[in-house]
Amino acid sequence: MCGIIGYTGKKQAEPILLEGLKRLEYRGYDSAGIAILKNGTIEVRKKQGKLHVLADELRRLPIEGITGIGHVRWATHGIPNEINAHPHLDEKKKIAVVHNGIIENYQALKKKLITEGHRFISDTDTEVIPHLIEKFYKGNLTDAVRRAASLLKGSYAICCFHKNEPHKIVGARCDSPLIIGLGKNENFFASDIPAILNYTQNVVFIDNAEIAEITPKSYRIINYKGKKILRKPTRIKWNISQAEKEGFKHFMLKEIFEQGKVTKNILEERIKKNSIHFEELALKNTDLKRIKNIAIVACGTAFHAGLTGQYVLESLTGIPVWVDTSSEFRYRNPIVGKETLAIFISQSGETADTLAALREAKRKGAKTLAICNVLASSIARESDGVVYTHAGPEIAVASTKAYTAQLTILYLLSMHIARKRSKLSEKDFNKLLLQFKKLPHILEKTLSKYRKEKNNIANYAKLFREYYLKMHHKSTFLYLARNINYPNALEGALKLKEISYISAEGYPAGEMKHGPIALIDENPWVVCIATKSAVYDKMISNIQEIKARGGIVIAVATEGDKSIRNQNINYIIEIPEISEFFSPIVVVVPLQLLAYYVAREFNYDIDQPRNLAKSVTVE
Ligand code: F6R
Repeated sequence: MCGIIGYTGKKQAEPILLEGLKRLEYRGYDSAGIAILKNGTIEVRKKQGKLHVLADELRRLPIEGITGIGHVRWATHGIPNEINAHPHLDEKKKIAVVHNGIIENYQALKKKLITEGHRFISDTDTEVIPHLIEKFYKGNLTDAVRRAASLLKGSYAICCFHKNEPHKIVGARCDSPLIIGLGKNENFFASDIPAILNYTQNVVFIDNAEIAEITPKSYRIINYKGKKILRKPTRIKWNISQAEKEGFKHFMLKEIFEQGKVTKNILEERIKKNSIHFEELALKNTDLKRIKNIAIVACGTAFHAGLTGQYVLESLTGIPVWVDTSSEFRYRNPIVGKETLAIFISQSGETADTLAALREAKRKGAKTLAICNVLASSIARESDGVVYTHAGPEIAVASTKAYTAQLTILYLLSMHIARKRSKLSEKDFNKLLLQFKKLPHILEKTLSKYRKEKNNIANYAKLFREYYLKMHHKSTFLYLARNINYPNALEGALKLKEISYISAEGYPAGEMKHGPIALIDENPWVVCIATKSAVYDKMISNIQEIKARGGIVIAVATEGDKSIRNQNINYIIEIPEISEFFSPIVVVVPLQLLAYYVAREFNYDIDQPRNLAKSVTVE
């Protein structure tokens, strides 16, 4: 939900801001803008549409200057037009502000400011901020921001500068991410690490209710009372190539193909001498033994990972597990307490609903554990313990490698808890570990089939498009699976609708007769997960029922399964043989690829699908 960046140093700010915004574009892409201090005047360029529109404008009308801020927007208040795009200025055009988040009390503040003579030009909530700063400004921007920020309610990360303090940028944060990047004779603000990785790996994380100021040679953090806060930088292990496409057409494809390496890294990091290590877990063995129930809470794809986690945790640990979407959990008055382990899964670690759900669980006394990808993100910091997925930056809006990384961690965590609670014998534990260690190789084998441009999934996507046009855009998708792969049916459907805008539903195949079978005619394409498993025969029966009603079936099957070839199935996608228990981590790969190729057939903007933003930092 919006990305912000700030730069002050010796170099020209414009290309640095643009490059940073490019790496933040996944956060919002309906408009973009920058403000740079040029010879004592604030110059602004903003444009409706994606970042390239702003870049074109800047080629026509460049701005020189060494201090500036930038913004990519995902509209909340006010339509995505040029006036509502950030940066926003005060009336005298002395202060420029970019903002990520929502100011919930903006109407009351605006009303008051108007009675005091301020004039507004946009429909945004953000515009109150430069006016408030203007009101409090007495020659020290940091102090004015501190006084303004203490009046704001809602979520925000802000960056701003004042034309009278030319080498200073001030930031503030409350529930939206903001970091400082420390360079040599140059410093940065950004919403996320990839935006500054080209210049520095030294990062200072700003906490809630903190104000920070940077100059080219210094940084300083204070709280809302003006008290100085000392915080050392953290060295980030990510490198810039991880945030590049590296020859792939889209980040999504690159990230799908990274999944073998990501799981391999996780297993190598966590498994040492046949035992599982979670240094950051912060849960003592006594805590693990005390748990009576587990709640898994997450949104979207992370929620689907949680659903698989339920199967795995329950079967290995014997502890009852339930899974909730964060937006429901936070308002449902859930029954959690001291004997609950509440696990919050979030790639970004900033999802507003998941963060609120975490706070609710803590308030009720649960032990909390985060599974996050982004280092030092809000959810990671506020949980009692955290396990990082270390999947590297995920740039495509549609989540892929973060999902398989979350699954990998959930399997390891389940095995770890089961072992600590003596629910898994050493022999069974070692047997599972042995199988698990083979997984990265199986994933690589699966992916290697699709490295060629022409492959059967790409071909099925092409056939689908032709069919879709023939059927006058009526074709849809239904995804069916059972047992431990059921969450993958939901995930496959989510991936497809996110990036190809085609209606898709995921269902447990056993529920088909309770409704979805009514949908079956020649329109929907039904993706059936029918890999070798305990529920294989039941899936074959479901396939027969679909075929009997004229449905079109794509089956995900196990390599070498000859009998599935006799089922009159329209299209078959094979995956290598793998135990049913670990299969979800592999089965999802062809589903991700199918969604990718369908969207590519329609020429959609795969990495930045309409209306979506990767990090949902507002409710
Ligand atoms: C789907 C997707 C979203 C996210 C969801 C949660 O491809 O990306 O559904 O999974 O918004 O985001 P995080 O994991 O950052 O909390």
